[in-house]
Amino acid sequence: MGERWVSGQARGHGDGFVEVTVRPARDSDRRTVGRLLALGFPDKFAPVFGPDRERAAAILADLPPSGTVYVAERAGEVVGTFTLVLEERTPSPLWSVLRRHLGLGAALRAFLLLQLMGTSHPEPHTALVEAVAVLPEWRGRGVGRRMMTEALASARRAGRRRVGLYVVEGNAPAFRLYTSLGFRVQRTHRLLWARSLFGAQRILYMTAELGYPRGGPGA
Ligand SMILES: CC(C)(COP(=O)(O)OP(=O)(O)OC[C@H]1O[C@@H](n2cnc3c(N)ncnc32)[C@H](O)[C@@H]1OP(=O)(O)O)[C@@H](O)C(=O)NCCC(=O)NCCS
Repeated sequence: MGERWVSGQARGHGDGFVEVTVRPARDSDRRTVGRLLALGFPDKFAPVFGPDRERAAAILADLPPSGTVYVAERAGEVVGTFTLVLEERTPSPLWSVLRRHLGLGAALRAFLLLQLMGTSHPEPHTALVEAVAVLPEWRGRGVGRRMMTEALASARRAGRRRVGLYVVEGNAPAFRLYTSLGFRVQRTHRLLWARSLFGAQRILYMTAELGYPRGGPGA
């Protein structure tokens, strides 16, 4: 499939507008995307892969993505990423990737923790957005909003009725971003096992309706 480029201005919090381009990730972006995820979700990945962030980034770069990975680029630098899941995913070769990077004990631990976290599958007519992350130094400058706007547009082009996502309770920047784009909480999952590991207690499942005119996919 050919690449589609979407340019646009992202509104900043007083730092002015940030020009970003949102495009599907290429193979050469994998390492940067891994780094973005390691930096974006330290509470999640440090307990799984250990405190070495570079190693976490390398593992994350090697794990097969759950959907189409997009990146936000500014002046040639990748500053953000998200993944759009349109279809049920196929099982990934998790174990072999973990063993490539980690000793047996650490790989076993990471494997079990990742199984415990589970895998989310898109509900019917719904696209899932996952792994939304902006480089710390570029946060608050509209990049997240631009990426989410593009995620919604891509899901709509793919004929989905709504977009769903999971967000840890208490993640105020993400929650405000999603709410401002029309996402509403559908249900709450208690993460009893996660409390001791990640400090997180509840995860929210939010959806946004894509709102088609009469006769469209939402009818
Ligand atoms: C969540 C995240 C992706 C937002 O990206 P961002 O580029 O900083 O967001 P934007 O600058 O586009 O801001 C969009 C909206 O988010 C909200 N927001 C962003 N930063 C915020 C902050 N520090 N506090 C409160 N709200 C904030 C605001 O509603 C803002 O809208 P506004 O500009 O009209 O005020 C980014 O903070 C991030 O990478 N966090 C770490 C990873 C993560 O938690 N991902 C989400 C997992 S579900």
